[in-house]
Amino acid sequence: MRLVFPAFLLAAVVCFASENNSARRLKNVFKDDFHIGAAVNRSQIYGRAPKAGVLLAEQFSSITPENVMKWSSIHPKPDEYNFEPADKYASIGEENSMFVAGHTLIWHNQTPDWVFENADGSEVSRKELLKRMREHIFKVAGRYKGRVHGWDVVNEAIEDDGSLRNTKWREIIGDDYIAKAFEYAHQAAPDAELYYNDYNMYRSEKRKAAAELAEKLQSRGLRIDGIGIQGHWGLNHPSAAEIQKSIDAFSSLGLKVMITELDLTVLPSAWEHRGADISQNYELRKEINPFPDGLPANMQRKLSNRYQQLFALFTRNSGKISRVTFWGVHDGCSWRNNWPVSGRTDYPLLFNRNCEPKRAFNEVVKAGRK
Ligand code: G3I
Repeated sequence: MRLVFPAFLLAAVVCFASENNSARRLKNVFKDDFHIGAAVNRSQIYGRAPKAGVLLAEQFSSITPENVMKWSSIHPKPDEYNFEPADKYASIGEENSMFVAGHTLIWHNQTPDWVFENADGSEVSRKELLKRMREHIFKVAGRYKGRVHGWDVVNEAIEDDGSLRNTKWREIIGDDYIAKAFEYAHQAAPDAELYYNDYNMYRSEKRKAAAELAEKLQSRGLRIDGIGIQGHWGLNHPSAAEIQKSIDAFSSLGLKVMITELDLTVLPSAWEHRGADISQNYELRKEINPFPDGLPANMQRKLSNRYQQLFALFTRNSGKISRVTFWGVHDGCSWRNNWPVSGRTDYPLLFNRNCEPKRAFNEVVKAGRK
């Protein structure tokens, strides 16, 4: 007997499917709350990961460049700029009408040594380094004027104890290198939002120092629009209460708050084994890489509960939080798989290595619908 679907029934099924499908898109679920974004890597930018590309366009309303706009990638040599990957990145954002973030103009990591050296290898002067900083910011932020909507101007300049991090920028220019970076960024891209971005921002000393840094910029009449809380967290830490304190501390200064690099490791800490090669050490592997073949149901449940808790917190603060960005599109491309020990199998995001939604995704969608 041949089944004949009356046309209206088929139409209803299709409409329900697409309805159901669009209601399961993070960008739709949180459209009245905040931008929902993902960091994209070079292979995704070059279309070498088509599944991730489809997922990105379907689920997210914002993107951040994981590496292609960092100094070492975009300005590898004094007179050499490598704009192609960053241009492609910006185009992906435009093609999908996304909020395009820029990451990051000034950082102590992924900045080539030549930036701080004269041709003879000696250290440059304050004047020369300011000139190089200004030129870089004008070249990069200037190039993406109107295309990058918000820049992480300075990244990770504060230590966990609240003191300013000792970097080449600070040693050579002085503490005001941060203010100079914000000054140049606003001159180069007058319409772009400007952010200070850092990790462990739930720590009271660091929270206080970041708030004071922002107030100092504001008191000097310099534009700063928001503070980025990276969000490289775990299943039990930090607490929602600690995160809430940081959201309140920064929004009380009239600043936007963004969760800029969210991921939740499910792996045991391996800090004391950083740099170890676990491929040669079975016992260590078993200890610090316990889920090589899939995440067990009980861990899936823990991850889902944690994401549910966090997104309940974020939606409660949707008036203060302007964006939540995951640091990667799916588990397979997460830096967590290779840090602090390379070759581990982590599950820190909402989509699995096959770009399929995980149980945690369902909990986040539910949290968004409340
Ligand atoms: O591009 C080179 C490639 O030419 C070379 O063959 C390969 C082999 O080592 O290295 C490639 O560079 C790697 C780069 O990512 C691009 O893939 C670097 O080794 C690697 O260290 C770098 O890691 C990035 C890391 O920042 C560097 O600090 C991660 O992908 C990126 O996720 C991570 O992101 C940072 C944020 O920018 C700031 N907050 C913390 C976050 C996690 O560390």
